[in-house]
Amino acid sequence: MANLFDPITIGDVTLENRIIMGPLMRNRSPDAVPNELNVEYYRQRASAGLIISEATAITEQGQGYSHAPGIYSDEAVEGWRHVTTAVHESGGKIFCQLVHVGRISHKSLQPFGDPPVAPSPIQARAKTFVVYSDGSSDFIETSMPRQLKPYEISSIIEDFRRAAARAMEAGFDGVEIHGANGYLVDQFLRSGANQRTDLYGGPLENRARFMFDVVGAISREIGPGRTAIRLSPVAPSNDIHDDKPQALFNYLASQLSAYDLAYVHVIEGATGGDRVYQQGPEPFNYEEMRETYYRTDGSGAWMVNNGYDRQLAIDALEKERADLICFGRPFVANPDLVRRLRINAQLNALDQRTLFGGDEKGYTDYPVLGG
Ligand SMILES: Cc1cc2nc3c(=O)[nH]c(=O)nc-3n(C[C@H](O)[C@H](O)[C@H](O)COP(=O)(O)O)c2cc1C
Repeated sequence: MANLFDPITIGDVTLENRIIMGPLMRNRSPDAVPNELNVEYYRQRASAGLIISEATAITEQGQGYSHAPGIYSDEAVEGWRHVTTAVHESGGKIFCQLVHVGRISHKSLQPFGDPPVAPSPIQARAKTFVVYSDGSSDFIETSMPRQLKPYEISSIIEDFRRAAARAMEAGFDGVEIHGANGYLVDQFLRSGANQRTDLYGGPLENRARFMFDVVGAISREIGPGRTAIRLSPVAPSNDIHDDKPQALFNYLASQLSAYDLAYVHVIEGATGGDRVYQQGPEPFNYEEMRETYYRTDGSGAWMVNNGYDRQLAIDALEKERADLICFGRPFVANPDLVRRLRINAQLNALDQRTLFGGDEKGYTDYPVLGG
């Protein structure tokens, strides 16, 4: 029976344990370039079986939040190289979460102050985080997006490919495509955000095309064993919704199985909220999605997230519902989460006020056991 603390090989990468640090945007990389404070933060958490980096923008157009890192400039690649080196020297592994935020952005964060882009010109009732020149910060409404033209879609797929190549250059062990939480990939997937009438819209097979184009382009570039995807079948994050999530995600699982990915990462319920949240009249059947993936010969590991604690994590592995458990907030407040879970120690409480932006406070100063 699988144990949280057993090593596991996923695709081309071997992990020391099955406790995964989830992607956590912390908005502490001015100019989109990782810095020495970021290096220290990730180094402190390297005992995770795998760290998934905070959402990292593939281009300036893919940016939706102030002081979030990118991977499109030489400086950012160099900054990330310091992070990956520190994690590797501490015995850890790290994937880069690649994001294009699509409509979840503000004009002030976009090149030339242009509107953000999206599958369809539908504004999200959602907020983004901005830092002003005087250092103050705020959460503000996202801007009205403009619809992507077909040739622009091809060029964003190419941007994803290039970003994956740059992530490997920066020393990452692989990349996780951000297909969750209402960002661009998710916007294409959902009937609520995608009203296109071309090959990228309409029936679910068309809405899924963008995601598979990105998965294909990245897999070919860096190898499927270093490629992974994060999905959130029912999360309403960033005003996203779909009429038939079960049919959509069963279909994705049945087609993703062809790619030999390192892992498929599924957020259960509303991200950071209710684990049994549902969209529509039926509860979402995660087991059906997982079974569909393996029945169609999927070979990647299955990673689950959202509201896991030690016992839920142990149960999920014992019942073979998952191979990897991803923890988000517990890793913010507990750099030594793996050790604490091993000895069943109490966890530090999370300071909500220091999550986004700021300095080392609430970032690199959480205490470790015996530290
Ligand atoms: C501060 C913060 C930042 C987050 N940033 C990201 C992100 O960059 N990418 C992403 O996919 N999810 C992000 N999430 C969601 C988490 O990865 C995770 O899904 C969520 O916290 C639920 O897991 P948990 O209950 O273990 O915290 C973020 C959550 C928090 C609290």
